[in-house]
Amino acid sequence: MNKSITRGYFITVEGSDGVGKSTQIHNIENYFLKLGYEVQLTREPGGTSIGDKLRDILLDVSNDEMNEMTEMLIYAASRAQHIKELIEPSLKKGKIVISDRYIDSSIAYQGYGRRLGEDVVKIVNEYASFGLIPDLTFWLDLDPELGRKRILSRSIIQDKDVTFDRIELEKNDFHNRVREGYKEIARKNPERVHRIDASLKADDVWEEIELILRKII
Ligand code: TYD
Repeated sequence: MNKSITRGYFITVEGSDGVGKSTQIHNIENYFLKLGYEVQLTREPGGTSIGDKLRDILLDVSNDEMNEMTEMLIYAASRAQHIKELIEPSLKKGKIVISDRYIDSSIAYQGYGRRLGEDVVKIVNEYASFGLIPDLTFWLDLDPELGRKRILSRSIIQDKDVTFDRIELEKNDFHNRVREGYKEIARKNPERVHRIDASLKADDVWEEIELILRKII
């Protein structure tokens, strides 16, 4: 990859809840803006108005009877819309697309967390994504318990009540399986997925990410 990107570049940021994805996404955005690129930020589930409606269904704590297959298919449905309505058109315009979560989240959360298995999630998502694979993925890795503590302490600092969504409310075992899932994804896709130690201070996390960006873009 050289520094002139003409057909867009697709970056995803992954990790458990509370790992500090938002801060780093903001840093990545600024990195590219300073280099003169157009950037499209987005997130999953969501990114489109249909996706946002699906997001509400997925994260609503009152939907506790949702079957894990239903859950995985709704995430995939939101993704298909997201790609056709926003990601593909942005890449065609030559933009850098940075998505807060993508298919790896479904593999980690539904495949491993919900124990649906990696294979079924992969197959469904091959169709749902029309085969679109990110060019680069940063996996911010942190012990899920530390992530939870960070969410709680952030809410104290900001003096805001913390509300956990349907997925965040899952027990430790679930979140530990999600982390295992990410570990496997990184092991199987070393050329695309970069593990970043998210227990470091935010500035040091950014230093690691920037080093990788400088090498490839
Ligand atoms: P969100 O509030 O965006 O969490 P975060 O800020 O941590 O990204 O909620 C998204 C939740 O949905 C998050 O707990 C992870 C989960 N998720 C899945 O389970 N599967 C998926 O495919 C995606 C995209 C997200």
